[in-house]
Amino acid sequence: MERNGRVEGKVVLITGVAKTNSIGFSTARVFGEEGALLAIVDISPKVHACADELRKEGFTVSSHTSDLTKMDEVQAAVAAAVTCHGRIDVLVNNAGMVIEGMEEDFTDFAHMSEKDWDFGIAINLKTQFNVTRTVIGGMIERGYGRIVNVSSVTGPVVANPEEAVYCAAKAGVLGMTRGVALDVARHGITVNAVGPGWINTGSTTEGERAGAENTPLGRAATPAEVGKLICFLGSDDASYITGQLVVIDGGNTIQEYKGPSELYY
Ligand SMILES: NC(=O)c1ccc[n+]([C@@H]2O[C@H](COP(=O)([O-])OP(=O)(O)OC[C@H]3O[C@@H](n4cnc5c(N)ncnc54)[C@H](O)[C@@H]3O)[C@@H](O)[C@H]2O)c1
Repeated sequence: MERNGRVEGKVVLITGVAKTNSIGFSTARVFGEEGALLAIVDISPKVHACADELRKEGFTVSSHTSDLTKMDEVQAAVAAAVTCHGRIDVLVNNAGMVIEGMEEDFTDFAHMSEKDWDFGIAINLKTQFNVTRTVIGGMIERGYGRIVNVSSVTGPVVANPEEAVYCAAKAGVLGMTRGVALDVARHGITVNAVGPGWINTGSTTEGERAGAENTPLGRAATPAEVGKLICFLGSDDASYITGQLVVIDGGNTIQEYKGPSELYY
């Protein structure tokens, strides 16, 4: 069967893919289904098992381990991906929030250490600077690129208790998105951010599940729903969209009433 996907033949580098029930993995699958060649990167060696899963589905995939907070490791991973596929057309900066196998750290601001702060900024914001800075030169040379940064509604739009550093970093992702979008606009490169709300991944907590039930749509999103949005922004169908935050939250941040839906509508 002849394929003609949205991103046919494009090389897509996706960071933060170490488990199958995640935004990164689902995004990789959607890009694969739409015809892309995949390079996936994570600090966790589980990235290689994810690549095996994606290969079983028929996709061309390379996998690379890298601590994306470290520029030298980022440069090595990107160089390895370019050796495998020749170039990078689309970058999805998805890594962040938590390192696979570790617990997410929630800290009240009055007790937050400088180390906690630096770590939160490093995994959520510096990772995206490091990868974007490494990839963008090649995109400028070729006059083509799509960059999609995974932000959140948490930070740019709303906030949660004990998540000040995550909020700051994810709001920083949006600021960086806008700034870079202007710097590269005349080079055929678009840069956008997505702002997921409650997403049903392997790391969803009971509290998050309850929050999702009280959204206007009454449920969390699937990771695939986020992947489809990322793939759209990474495709030529989104060629005139740049510097934007696209929120995908089931209407959660536009509703004034936050209580149980059965008491109101
Ligand atoms: N799950 C949600 O509800 C939700 C909502 C809004 C935004 N997000 C964002 O979506 C993205 C993916 O989240 P997910 O829920 O799929 O979780 P996830 O834990 O599956 O994905 C994050 C991945 O990033 C990797 N990572 C973290 N630090 C890294 C580093 N220094 N170097 C390399 N890899 C590193 C982790 O190992 C992990 O595999 C994150 O940026 C998160 O902030 C998630």
